[in-house]
Amino acid sequence: MGITADTFRLDGRVALVTGSSTGIGLALARGLAQAGATVVLNARNAARLRDAAAGLRAAGLAAHARAFDVTDPAAVDAAVAAIEAEVGPIDILVNNAGITRRAAFTEISDADWRAVLQTNLDAAFYAGRAVARRMVARKRGRIVNTCSVMSELARPSTAPYAASKGALKMLTKAMAVELAPHGITVNGIAPGYFETELTAPLVADEAFNRWVISRTPARRWGNVEELAPALVFLCSDGAAYVNGHLLLVDGGMTAAV
Ligand SMILES: NC(=O)c1ccc[n+]([C@@H]2O[C@H](COP(=O)([O-])OP(=O)(O)OC[C@H]3O[C@@H](n4cnc5c(N)ncnc54)[C@H](OP(=O)(O)O)[C@@H]3O)[C@@H](O)[C@H]2O)c1
Repeated sequence: MGITADTFRLDGRVALVTGSSTGIGLALARGLAQAGATVVLNARNAARLRDAAAGLRAAGLAAHARAFDVTDPAAVDAAVAAIEAEVGPIDILVNNAGITRRAAFTEISDADWRAVLQTNLDAAFYAGRAVARRMVARKRGRIVNTCSVMSELARPSTAPYAASKGALKMLTKAMAVELAPHGITVNGIAPGYFETELTAPLVADEAFNRWVISRTPARRWGNVEELAPALVFLCSDGAAYVNGHLLLVDGGMTAAV
């Protein structure tokens, strides 16, 4: 077969990217659309979501918007059914919605623990299950979970986040081994530190900002546009035999002690 211009193209594919009205999710959706996919953006805030989709369409890209809360399994099931009816069969699912709540371990509230686990882990299960049921019947599909360097490493005040992202890495592997016989791949991308709304308090914190720059071998924060090529690869025909893999996009952070 060899490598052609089409090996990494996604023309004709429908991709749902959760948590994609801003930040990493929006950059990932833009990248998939630039590679030829029709993307469905998702978030809770419908107005901001509509603006994000309109921005992609203004750039000549194929984009739809579907507002729902990924932590609500009934809403997820209904949204997946509606997207398949209105846009087409979902070929690519990116479980990207994520939140954090920073607190000292002894001060973490039950509510914050549950909120982080529900958004970062439970939601990937709900959407993964809803979409995989349909992908299994079609014998093809790509699922990519947005993990983190915190799937591998922890920092003080990040216990719920690190626990959720570590578990998401293992959910990725568990889904991969079970869905592989059905022609489905399930992989993760693991961003290092990227400037987004989620990390705005960290960027603003001078000491933390200095720590990120000194701790990252690339000596800088990541730019969200540097993540999309890794995702496009994992969703492409070129990655047909890449399964259960966690692709670190972290400027070398996890390679360094
Ligand atoms: N930034 C980094 O350095 C970094 C590093 C490693 C991993 N990550 C991961 O990358 C992903 C995106 O992070 P980000 O920095 O781009 O975050 P962000 O800027 O805070 O954006 C989060 C997106 O998720 C949506 N969202 C949150 N909760 C949701 C829910 N319950 N249902 C549907 N949508 C929801 C938000 O919109 P609404 O609020 O309107 O719902 C927004 O569109 C997360 O999984 C994060 O853990 C980020």
